[in-house]
Amino acid sequence: MEKYVFIQTNELVHQIVKEIKELIEKKPTALLCIAGGDTPKPVMEKLVEASQNDEIDFSTCYFVGLDEWVGISKETDGSCYQTLDDYFFSKLKGVKPANICFFNGKATALDQECERINQFINKRQQIDYILLGIGMNGHLGFNEPGAEITKEAHVIELDMTTKQVMGKYFKTALPLEHGITLGLKQILNSGKIVLMATGEHKASMIAKIMNSEPTNQIPATLMKMAGSAVTLYLDQGAAQNL
Ligand code: F6R
Repeated sequence: MEKYVFIQTNELVHQIVKEIKELIEKKPTALLCIAGGDTPKPVMEKLVEASQNDEIDFSTCYFVGLDEWVGISKETDGSCYQTLDDYFFSKLKGVKPANICFFNGKATALDQECERINQFINKRQQIDYILLGIGMNGHLGFNEPGAEITKEAHVIELDMTTKQVMGKYFKTALPLEHGITLGLKQILNSGKIVLMATGEHKASMIAKIMNSEPTNQIPATLMKMAGSAVTLYLDQGAAQNL
């Protein structure tokens, strides 16, 4: 796992945008996955700008959701789908709705929902580029501490830390107990895995990840097993304890 620390957050964002641009030029039908949450929002903004300026053509790309809170979906402010839609999908030029496959956290048959997502990925063999944030407990997507490395999309019980942090996404408290997420197997199988962390509040978890052997108690450490396919991009705040 290569680690890069950027002096300016906008340089970090620029690097990721450049990688995605190069990938799409090489493979116009690339399958992309971008986490919800706050971390990737500046990247989404720059990707939208590049799309609007005709610098990146997303019209033949595919997109798969990383995760969703069980019990809510696109119509709820703060859901992963709404975040992606507001900041990204709805603003891209020429994207085909059929090319976007996102978890519906309100599906009655969640097993079938997982299967639908698995099939969408399997049809394209792998995710070409996955941009992940890192949870305060080291989670990736909703692969919480203890997550199994062999799993594809599945439903999980939210970890205590995730439940404490989730208030920042919602205007009112929601009684959410479960998440639905791509599994570590699908993440590790991606062509390019980018872990992005910004801000001092991530510094102690980043130091823990860097100093730990791969363990599913800190899911982000498992990305060390993906070798050169994985890159960790940090700003100075997130890197301050290294
Ligand atoms: C969100 C997601 C989560 C977040 C992580 C970091 O779709 O999958 O794993 O990426 O919790 O969240 P932020 O970026 O809000 O600090």
